[in-house]
Amino acid sequence: MGFPEIRPRRLRRSETIRRMVRETSLSVDDLICPLFVMDGKGVRREIPSMPEVFQLSVDNLVKEAREIAELGIPAVLLFGLPGKKDPMGKEAYSDCGIVQTAVRAIKDAEPGLAVITDVCLCEYTDHGHCGILNGEEVDNDATLDVIARSAVSHARAGADIVAPSDMMDGRVGAIRAALDTEGLDQTAIMSYAAKYASAFYGPFREAADSAPAFGDRRSYQMDPPNILEALRETALDIDEGADIVMVKPAMAYLDVVRRVRDAFDVPVAAYSVSGEYSMVKAAEKLGWIDGERIMMEMLVSIKRAGAGLIITYAAKRAARKLTGVTR
Ligand code: PBG
Repeated sequence: MGFPEIRPRRLRRSETIRRMVRETSLSVDDLICPLFVMDGKGVRREIPSMPEVFQLSVDNLVKEAREIAELGIPAVLLFGLPGKKDPMGKEAYSDCGIVQTAVRAIKDAEPGLAVITDVCLCEYTDHGHCGILNGEEVDNDATLDVIARSAVSHARAGADIVAPSDMMDGRVGAIRAALDTEGLDQTAIMSYAAKYASAFYGPFREAADSAPAFGDRRSYQMDPPNILEALRETALDIDEGADIVMVKPAMAYLDVVRRVRDAFDVPVAAYSVSGEYSMVKAAEKLGWIDGERIMMEMLVSIKRAGAGLIITYAAKRAARKLTGVTR
């Protein structure tokens, strides 16, 4: 049977019927809100290329975390801007570093809010690369120890989940071993398993002050045309002990999200990165698009592609839209 007996439009006639046959539903439970924390007091500095996203001092970060928890968003992802940088990224694993301090403050104020920490050196090294340098090369094995120490310090401060984003080989295994040695076997690892060398990170590097001083990240982050490599990276991370795997960026890599979802049985996260957010905000500002509708469409597409966890700078706005809260 075909047309005219079959008429798919019957099921699109009203919002009620569309709601009944809807295949994918986005929920506030799916959202993770990234936050940038820095030294100081009373700091709330909007990032020019990322409207409504702020660099916050710990006091304001706690207020922001409270608001996020009240909206029902289950988790935040923390990035730190340290007061000082050096070639070895020492501040990354200092027990009184900015992220460690922020984790303790959020966990004190909002114990129910899950705290995820980005584990990487690029915000902490003066050269801006994600690892320790040997000449102009990023030394993989020398970096592992520092990455693992950072993860342990975050976990000790109370982080529920650590999220390594450096793309060194073997880092998930190194982190798992270090956590377990310290008795931190309950801290989960969300690995940036398939992280591409992407121009979509541009605005973030302004937000986190982490642009490399020379060269680029193509010797450690993945080449955008590759997908088999993404599956291999993901398999390795799961084998090394990743509890959740992530694909990043999201929008231009939804095929990767789908392949990873189909190939593995662990939770899959996708990171809708700074460039994705900035493009929507810029076009919205120009009056060229309906920013809110585009943002919601992007988020539901990420969910449809197979990601159960979505990291997005639009988390608060999406949560308000999803729950009908107007504030
Ligand atoms: C750190 C890191 C980056 C992002 C998350 N963690 C930047 C990079 O790899 O250059 C990007 C996030 C975004 O663009 O929103 N390595």
